[in-house]
Amino acid sequence: MTKARSNLQIDSARLWKDIHDTAQFGATAKGGVRRLTLGAEDRQVRDWFRAACEAAGCAVRVDALGTMFAIRPGRDMSKPPIGIGSHLDTQPTGGKYDGVLGTLAALEAVRAMNDAGIETELPVCVCNWTNEEGSRFAPAMMASAAYAGDYTTDDILSRRDAEGVTVAEALDEIGYRGPDAVGAQRFSAFVELHIEQGPILEAEGKTIGVVDRGQGIMWYDGTVAGFASHAGTTPMPLRRDALAAFAEFVLAVEKVARDNGPNAVGTVGEVTIANASRNVVPGDLAFTIDMRSAQAGTLDALHAGVTAAAAEIGARRKVAIDLKRIWRKEPTVFNPALVDTVERAAKDLGYAHRRITSGAGHDACNLAAVMPAAMIFVPCKDGISHNELEDATQADCTAGANVLLHTVLALAGVVSDGKA
Ligand code: GLV
Ligand code: MN
Ligand code: MN
Repeated sequence: MTKARSNLQIDSARLWKDIHDTAQFGATAKGGVRRLTLGAEDRQVRDWFRAACEAAGCAVRVDALGTMFAIRPGRDMSKPPIGIGSHLDTQPTGGKYDGVLGTLAALEAVRAMNDAGIETELPVCVCNWTNEEGSRFAPAMMASAAYAGDYTTDDILSRRDAEGVTVAEALDEIGYRGPDAVGAQRFSAFVELHIEQGPILEAEGKTIGVVDRGQGIMWYDGTVAGFASHAGTTPMPLRRDALAAFAEFVLAVEKVARDNGPNAVGTVGEVTIANASRNVVPGDLAFTIDMRSAQAGTLDALHAGVTAAAAEIGARRKVAIDLKRIWRKEPTVFNPALVDTVERAAKDLGYAHRRITSGAGHDACNLAAVMPAAMIFVPCKDGISHNELEDATQADCTAGANVLLHTVLALAGVVSDGKA
């Protein structure tokens, strides 16, 4: 085994061009991307990705949940590959970097190895995980969760979007229900590059975040059942206004998160008033909650807090606030040896770096339960993400891709570096 040349770099201009070219699939007027999972734009980017991976000499496989695996052969094909990659779906008003950077940088790492004539001992597998975002189908990161055994494939295939379309139907519609069983593609390890999506690296002037933990996540579906009545004739004391009660509940969610802070967050992100009308006191509504912390005990406290608030506000306002927890993802601790490998790559390349906890969920967090996994973060402008304004510099994206390249070379083992 030989050591990879320490000056080996990815092609920054090629990575930057790919990020901006693929941002055309679902481009929004404000410069962001709307590429909901398994929609028409997702098919476009998937077709592009498949062709680009094949052009880079990879064989592309697709599993039953549409996750794409592009394999660059290694000398020992009996060993599972080192997985690298992320996701190509976006939020409804998403940016150009969330998921895209990690997927395209993984492809770029493979191209850089090709250009340098590098042969690795283990194969390398570039991945595009289906539905990381969770905005069309819940839960987020559903394909990697099924891979890790948290759900059966049939369960995930039967999940429906707001229009009632199932994951199975959506996969068939875009032609990405693949023949491989979920979990059939094995890995020796998995490494995901991502923008931080928060403000820490930028504030501290660090180029690389060496991610050693990830927050746990809880998602809820909720309803408020009050009583719809005439807005002009129903006296204030007699009302059972679902929306007014909900307004109190939203503030209670915020308070529960603050009270359990600083390492806890709580968000009410969606609300739909049934049969909303200007002159009807709202009778029924549905909503969602997202709560997170890096400590399991804090997740328990958040759950207890919102459950108690729902009961108290509901009883006092004579409405029924029903909360159903649909997902609890435990906090992630990434593999210490792999985290050290990422840190060494950042150090050897001379990038300012620090350890960091991921506030966002990532496929690597699910995969960490069943294989050694780690993540690399780069800064994004003002910490903004899940917004069309999401931005990152070419230099930082390049640095992250270089750390990914050298991490994967260290893990896959360089047999020949083309110069030998
Ligand atoms: C994934 O995008 C998340 O919600 O963290
Ligand atoms: Mn992401
Ligand atoms: Mn996201």
